[in-house]
Amino acid sequence: MAPHKSFHVTTFGCQMNEHDSERMKGMLESLGYREAPERAAADLILFNTCSIREKADERFIAHLHEAKHLKRADPTRVIGVGGCWAQSLKDEVFARFPFVDVAFGPGQVHRLAEFLTSDSLSAQGYFEFEGFTGHLPAKRAREFQGWMQISVGCNLRCSYCIVPSTRGREVSRPIDELVAEAEKSAAEGVYELTLLGQNVNSYGRDLRPQPSSFSELLRRLDSIEGLGRIRYTSPHPKDMREDVIRCHAELESLCPHIHLPLQAGSSRVLKEMRRTYDRARYMDRVALIREHVPDVSLTTDIIVGFPGETEAEFRETLEVADEVGFDSAFTFIYSPRRGTEAATFEDRFVPHEVQVERMERLVEVVQRRARERAQRFVGRTVDVLVEGTSRTDPSRLRGRTPHNKVVNFEGLAGPGEVVPVVVTKATSQTLLGEERLLARAG
Ligand code: SAH
Ligand code: SF4
Ligand code: F3S
Repeated sequence: MAPHKSFHVTTFGCQMNEHDSERMKGMLESLGYREAPERAAADLILFNTCSIREKADERFIAHLHEAKHLKRADPTRVIGVGGCWAQSLKDEVFARFPFVDVAFGPGQVHRLAEFLTSDSLSAQGYFEFEGFTGHLPAKRAREFQGWMQISVGCNLRCSYCIVPSTRGREVSRPIDELVAEAEKSAAEGVYELTLLGQNVNSYGRDLRPQPSSFSELLRRLDSIEGLGRIRYTSPHPKDMREDVIRCHAELESLCPHIHLPLQAGSSRVLKEMRRTYDRARYMDRVALIREHVPDVSLTTDIIVGFPGETEAEFRETLEVADEVGFDSAFTFIYSPRRGTEAATFEDRFVPHEVQVERMERLVEVVQRRARERAQRFVGRTVDVLVEGTSRTDPSRLRGRTPHNKVVNFEGLAGPGEVVPVVVTKATSQTLLGEERLLARAG
């Protein structure tokens, strides 16, 4: 086989894919490849794909067509497609896109190495779940921020969601292995560690012979020297129990931020979505969280225009968004996904214009409440982990607070440093501030 020396990876989708891409890159570098600055300069062009909504598919297909042209110009290039889109189509990928050389699902990243080092470069697909990418070496985007995959897969069957069919059944990694990986990450300079799973707070119940729990994992990780911030995403409201909430009150490194996906405010819609909680139960979780951690920042995911959602039911989503007062929210228009239950509710699909109009109304409420909530930070000094320079004003720095608020501020610190910043202004999305040293100097 001709040696393929450089690679380029394009990542779509969620943090789990970011994590997997870092592992893909780490694995390729250990095979002697180096990262190319752009796709056109790479011998190996990889895509780590997402299929969560139709738009995600469309965006990716446009990129794939560009890769096709690059391959036409130089047929020795290898094109690989991994991740959820590949998994959901499996061998159909080769029928529809014959220029793809290798396709693999999220549980098969390590097979990429096998493919690249094999003698025959005939098209191959790998789709059985076999292993955690967490076992592979990582090439981190920022050395002070790391991901840790604590479980893969999802045992729930939310009627709109493609993930259970792309990521398979839930499997937790052994707790000792995770503690060891986190210690290693900390030793490598990771200050902020984000735990990943589709349903992180059901972690550990499937472990044998000794089941474990998410709160036990959090407590063990909190005691690791050097890990200053622990985050996780996403928990499920049904498993948001008092033991986990107490961890937020008690563990120093666990950030005061909980991303608690709501999806809809109407109990009937939640039932149709098969979310296994209703409006009252969700509100009860919020109350319990705020009782233990009054200053917590709460964020969420919401879907509008689910099949059959009436105007009155949508208003319940507005009510809940208003009542809870999320610090921010990801809002999505319902998108039918192949193979999911809700995709068969065609007779009840909400017209696109109605979905768009509902989305606008929801965003208005979400932003108003986020802006109001953010005012509590004005005048406070917050610890900011510096990530780089501001995206809109390069003379300013940008970082994140423990509450996961983005802060743009004036200061002299470098990436990876944690500095005290006085917040001077707050919008719905970001905080503005000054590094305290500067503030003192006048
Ligand atoms: N495991 C996570 C969610 C992963 S998907 C959880 O359960 O919270 C991220 C978000 O995408 C979901 O929370 C949901 O709001 C949204 N989403 C998933 N499928 C969707 C679909 N078919 N249409 C629109 N939004 C969807
Ligand atoms: Fe999808 Fe529901 Fe599982 Fe989240 S919990 S990944 S929304 S099926
Ligand atoms: Fe997308 Fe798969 Fe994540 S569908 S959102 S990449 S789990």
